Amino acid sequence: MKPIRLAPSILNADYGRLKEEIQRAEEGGADQIHVDIMDAHFVPNLSMGPAVVESVRKLTRLPLDLHLMVMEPEKLVKSFADAGADSITFHAEAVAQDYARKHKERGYAMQLVCKDFYDRGRLEKTIEEIRKRGKKVAVALNPETEVEVIEFLDRVDMVLAMTVWPGFGGQKFIDSVLPKVSKLRKLSATVDIEVDGGVDLSNIEKAAAAGANVFVAGTSVFHAPDPVAALKELRQKAERAYGV
Ligand code: DX5
Ligand code: ZN
Repeated sequence: MKPIRLAPSILNADYGRLKEEIQRAEEGGADQIHVDIMDAHFVPNLSMGPAVVESVRKLTRLPLDLHLMVMEPEKLVKSFADAGADSITFHAEAVAQDYARKHKERGYAMQLVCKDFYDRGRLEKTIEEIRKRGKKVAVALNPETEVEVIEFLDRVDMVLAMTVWPGFGGQKFIDSVLPKVSKLRKLSATVDIEVDGGVDLSNIEKAAAAGANVFVAGTSVFHAPDPVAALKELRQKAERAYGV
């Protein structure tokens, strides 16, 4: 069984007090720090670049779990690897050959949705770019990207199943992603399966029971009255449901 790992996301932390925020995550038993990189292109929001990641690197010994929500991730792997990432996640949709811009009535933007799924060449190249720098590799899937066509499971360390449309913290967990998590777990007992988006005390058990073992949590940790207690409670629930 894969061990449970908690990955607090600093996207919605207080950046003016990032050191204290990360310390609290450490006290709560975080296993890694999830860092969201957004380019205002793949997603309708902008976050941070390599220089900020370099500063975050100096604030903690925990692994940095970088989530690239950017187009052309292969071009950015080097900068973020050099900045101190331990694992790099990129979106399958961001290396899709032929994607359609399909308007989602979600109130904030258009989203990229794969038509013919990913471009194998670019996907392999991006995996290789990450691997050759000695970093762990993960591929992220948007809520509506299906897994029937997944062919790269044996070449990645982790698959990230988005449980919200990427772009913002504080959104509601999408339950209909859970069957995909179960499918992934059936396909591989050894790959890490991360869920990201809206994870909180009300749904972490469902996600763990479906087979997820890595949990990103932003709002439910950093906006909790007591982030240390919130993390401990999240872990307890996840471990119980996952059967650790
Ligand atoms: C969303 C990001 C998430 C986000 C999670 O696009 O990938 O990592 O920060 O935050 P919450 O837990 O608030 O959904
Ligand atoms: Zn994320």
